[in-house]
Formats: sequence, structure tokens, C-alpha cells
Amino acid sequence: MKIAIIGLGVVGRGVYDLVTMDQSVLQVKYVLELDKSKLQGIDALVAKDIDEILNDSEVDTVVELIGGKGIAYSFVLQALNHKKNVVTANKALISAYFKELTELANKNNVSLRYEAAVGGAINILDPLLTISRINKIHKIQGIINGSSNFILSKIFIEDYSLEKALEEAFKLGYLEANSNDDMEGLDLLRKINILSMLSYHQYIDESDIIRVPLSNVSSAFIDYIKSKNLALKYIATSELVNNQIMIHLEPVVIKKDSFYSYINYEENIIDIYGQYHLKQSFIGQGAGRYPTASAVVYDLIKQTEKTDYIQSFENNYPINKELKKYPFFILKNGLIEKTEYLSYASLQKTGALILARIEDDVYEEI
Ligand SMILES: NC(=O)c1ccc[n+]([C@@H]2O[C@H](COP(=O)([O-])OP(=O)(O)OC[C@H]3O[C@@H](n4cnc5c(N)ncnc54)[C@H](OP(=O)(O)O)[C@@H]3O)[C@@H](O)[C@H]2O)c1
Repeated sequence: MKIAIIGLGVVGRGVYDLVTMDQSVLQVKYVLELDKSKLQGIDALVAKDIDEILNDSEVDTVVELIGGKGIAYSFVLQALNHKKNVVTANKALISAYFKELTELANKNNVSLRYEAAVGGAINILDPLLTISRINKIHKIQGIINGSSNFILSKIFIEDYSLEKALEEAFKLGYLEANSNDDMEGLDLLRKINILSMLSYHQYIDESDIIRVPLSNVSSAFIDYIKSKNLALKYIATSELVNNQIMIHLEPVVIKKDSFYSYINYEENIIDIYGQYHLKQSFIGQGAGRYPTASAVVYDLIKQTEKTDYIQSFENNYPINKELKKYPFFILKNGLIEKTEYLSYASLQKTGALILARIEDDVYEEI
């Protein structure tokens, strides 16, 4: 199967390496990359523009690894309209334009695969679609943002200050200078959105998700959590209760010996709860060149086998942001306060800044 890779950055170069080293059933016919310095050691043809790729009938699949919702959106639309299969790692694109892109792929009878968009190396989406055809999935929860987990691990395991942990994350490339997507929770929001849509077989708008930024957490709050011998994780939760959906993400105060406190640095965990299988946990590297590239190549191999995602999004469960109540730590008049069990809406009415949700077993003890 002949493919074209667009974008030879961290992930794109990894995909090129894995395909050319190991995969005889796949052939990289073209690459397209703006930065010519990234073309060193590349044997494939360098396309002069997207049209050269789209007009070549030998190209079966376009691999979009540019990222973002700008030119990547245009290239993916054009590829689907030219009846090319598309593989991407682009969670921003998939979460925001899920309905449009899946419908366009179906209309043109081509496949759109995005395994690497959630959980890096963890191959979760393909099994999830099959699991969700057997079970009614009623909860998805996880630590699905490697950058924030790296920062919190540095703080709670290695005793880094918040500033030093952020500095280290920038230095190692975990945080981008021109993007707040990780600290503001946008990356986490996109991933829990994609997982929810595939689990519940329903389109969900990003604005229906409650998001508390990790940047709400201050050094003073971290010192407070440490003084209580507790830990903090940035967790996304999606629940279907009485046929209503609530999705939220926030910093969560957990016990130091709870299972999630053992998921550290770039590692991700995704727990899936279904009516027959109870809980299944998926754990693995959440980001990085080869972990992510391996998930892209997973999609390409599935593509050669023509085992397509089964996609039908016929459900229409209402979103209910009041479905569950939780206890929180808030900042009120400059002081850290613990609340009773409250809904997000009633909490927001108080005007207090939400610092973190408190896990039930922690609430009972503090
Ligand atoms: N990095 C990870 O660990 C990871 C994990 C999971 C998912 N992802 C997803 O994977 C995708 C790629 O991420 P990445 O980290 O590999 O990004 P990256 O390193 O910035 O690579 C993107 C590449 O695309 C090139 N590019 C930009 N516009 C282009 C255009 N019009 N035509 C051709 N090439 C163009 C960029 O060139 P310039 O540098 O010259 O702009 C850059 O080399 C994103 O959707 C990201 O969310 C990444």
C-alpha cells in the first residue's frame, strides 16, 4: 500500500522510520514538509504540493502529521474528497470536526483512522469501538495528558517546585512555548471527547465538557496538598448515568497509595467501565516520537487489512452538567477552602476559583 506522509516533525519522522525499516507491505511514496532541513536521509519522493499527492492514483492513504486545525483541516478535507484514506494523530482536528470528517469519509467510502490521537502508544480506540458494541460503556476515566503528568510527577515524586517543574517541561519539549493546550486542559478535553464519542456512539460538542485548568493550581496549594501527605493528578472523567452524559476534567486530590498515583511522568492510563466487563485499564506511553508513530503504523496496518472502524453515531443522550456532585478545594478570599458535595454550576455561582476535586476516600479523611 502506497502512502504519503505530510509533516515530518516529531511523529512524522518516526512514522517514516518505522515504515521504511520494518513494514514491507507499506511504501512511503511521497513526503511533504515545509522545513527542508527535515528531508535529510529521506528516500521517498518529495511532493511539490498537496495536489501532486492527491492527483496520484497510486497513493492509497494520506498520513496527516502537521497538527492543528488550520492547513491540516484543509488537507484532510481535500484528501477525503479525493477518495484517499486518511490516518492522523491530530486530536484537535478530530475532536472539533468529528461529525463532519466521519460523515465525509463515509460518504466517499474511505476510512479515517486516528488511533494515535489518544493515549500515544496505547492502542485504545480500535478495541474501544469493538468493546462498545458488546457492552454499554458507562464510564471512562484517565490520566491522558503526558505533559501535565510529567510536571505533577516532578513536583510530587522529586519534590520540584512548580516553577522548576514547568521549566524542565519546557526544556524537554513537553510544553510548547506558544501553546497553553496542556496546562489549560484543552489537550485532555479533546482526548476525553474522542473517547466519549466512540464509547457512547454519539457526537459531542467540546463546549459540553466542563474543564478546570491545571494552571489554577498554585505553589501554595501544592504545599498544602503535600502537607496533608496527599497527591494531585490531572484526571478526565466521562460518565453515562440514567441515559445522561456528564464529562469533566480537573486536578484531583488523591491518596498517595491510590492506583493513579503510580501512573507517573509520560505514562497514561485509560479506564473503561462497561456493563459486562466491569473495568479494563489501558496503560502506556502517552507521547513521544516512536510510541506515537507506532500507533500511526498500527492504523496503517489495519488499513491494509481493510478492517475499518465501525462508526455509527445514532445515539442522542442529553448532556447534563449537574449529573454528579463532588467535594472541591476552592480559593475564596485568598484562602484554600474545602467544600461540601456540590455541582459545578452551584460552585461556579459562588465565583470561587476551583483548585481541585477531592476524591471520595480522601474527603472522608480530611
Ligand atoms: N509529539 C507527540 O508526542 C504527539 C503525541 C500524540 C499526538 N501527536 C500529534 O501528532 C501531530 C504532529 O505532532 P508533532 O509533535 O509531530 O508536530 P511537529 O513536530 O511540529 O511536526 C509537524 C511538522 O509539520 C510541518 N508542517 C507544517 N505545516 C506544513 C505544511 N503546510 N506542509 C507540510 N508540512 C508542514 C512542520 O514544519 P515546520 O516545523 O517548518 O512548521 C513540522 O515539521 C499533531 O497533531 C499532534 O497533536 C503528537
